[in-house]
Amino acid sequence: MTEHTNPTAKLEIDGKTYELPIIEGTQGDRAIDVRALRQNTGLVTYDPSYGNTGSCTSNITYINGDKGTLWYRGYSIDDLAEHCTFLDVAYLLVHGFLPNRKERANFSQLMNTHSMLHEDMRHFFNLFPEHAHPMAMLSAMVVTLSTFYPEMVANPDESIDITVTRLLSKIRTIAAFAYKKMKGHPIVYPRKDLSYCANFLNMMFWTPVNDYKPDPVIVKALNQLLILQADHEQNCSSTVVKAVGSSGANLYASISAGVSALWGPLHGGANQAVIEMLESILSDPTLTVQKVIERAKDKDDPFRLFGFGHRVYRTYDPRAKIAKKICHTIMTHLGVKDSLLDIAQELEAAALADPYFQQRHLYPNVDFYTGLSYRAIGIPTNMFTVLFAIGRLPGWIAQWLEMRDGTEHRIYRPRQIYVGPDQRKLDKNWIQ
Ligand code: CMC
Repeated sequence: MTEHTNPTAKLEIDGKTYELPIIEGTQGDRAIDVRALRQNTGLVTYDPSYGNTGSCTSNITYINGDKGTLWYRGYSIDDLAEHCTFLDVAYLLVHGFLPNRKERANFSQLMNTHSMLHEDMRHFFNLFPEHAHPMAMLSAMVVTLSTFYPEMVANPDESIDITVTRLLSKIRTIAAFAYKKMKGHPIVYPRKDLSYCANFLNMMFWTPVNDYKPDPVIVKALNQLLILQADHEQNCSSTVVKAVGSSGANLYASISAGVSALWGPLHGGANQAVIEMLESILSDPTLTVQKVIERAKDKDDPFRLFGFGHRVYRTYDPRAKIAKKICHTIMTHLGVKDSLLDIAQELEAAALADPYFQQRHLYPNVDFYTGLSYRAIGIPTNMFTVLFAIGRLPGWIAQWLEMRDGTEHRIYRPRQIYVGPDQRKLDKNWIQ
């Protein structure tokens, strides 16, 4: 970030002029620095949902919402998805650089060493009701890790590397155990001879009566899908992770909160909602694509076209473009024909041709095609957001570390404009 001394914004309040510094990022993003505003003027800024608020400076992820570009640590998402594994990208996000051969081998070894869960944790899965959503299990189990590894709570600085390693490795095991719990199948332990994604697929799909062998094409596709979801700068769940961490709460607690934030259908839960929306069109002959579009446009109806629209992108989400290709690759490779893909493409074409979506710059986002890809692999719909969480974990960790180590770090604490009643006198007999 280059900090200019010259450019300033002038603000006039009650006849008095204040100069506010303008800061500029490396890619030309500009912001008015309002840090001293309240101290100098007594006023705060008002920005519900933070649509115009830059909450930090960051050197992790860059998005250009008008051009539809996305970089992690300066590398484009297209290059990373094509040439790296998910573990390479996790390393890149957390450490700031891509691993060399030796670092890559060590990191992969660490992922294997720490992949098991404490045996006592295994029993917790039995206590959830059968219909428990795996995102609830994931969030609960991630914070539960802090009870098995209390050193992070006691001495966060010394144990950070091992905590990061444990989280990245064990999240797959937790996710797969949650799936086995839902299926009522015996859990499958991680294996030391399998790569990060192959290991996860094996824990999901191996059973005593199905000697599952991870398919390299599917393993590559899963790596790519997780890369697409690995970070997205100050999104809702990353902001939650940082807000929780800003109070000094440990990394397990912060990530657990991030999982909960991701669960919502406006965020990571949209990949599940997309499939449910497509299924409802398929199962109801009276519900046409056009009717769904009309519903999404109706301001009296809270329904939205899931997998469409984004706070930052004003054009096609670059991740959606890659996800669409991956979806076709998986289906062609497996010889899968899914009617939901046909409906999705029909829906996409109808929305892109509709003035409502054109005027608002609403395009498919990452969630539109990732769910269809996961479905083709055989992952059930309610696990899609869990997959998103596995993908997003390195981003959450990188954002949390950057916040913790940054010079601007203070507890997150927005202000408000109170619009409630004036002070009232309490009637001592109010209860009668
Ligand atoms: N369907 C219909 N209308 C929409 C949609 C949609 N999917 N998205 C935005 N709009 C309309 C919105 O009603 C508003 O219209 P108007 O200007 O007439 O009031 C306008 O477009 C601007 O939308 P907004 O609500 O101000 O946008 P936002 O930045 O607050 O919300 C969003 C972004 C992603 C929550 C929203 O686009 C949405 O709800 N999309 C559907 C859910 C979804 O796919 N979420 C995944 C997002 S990408 C991955 C991730 O973040 O996890």
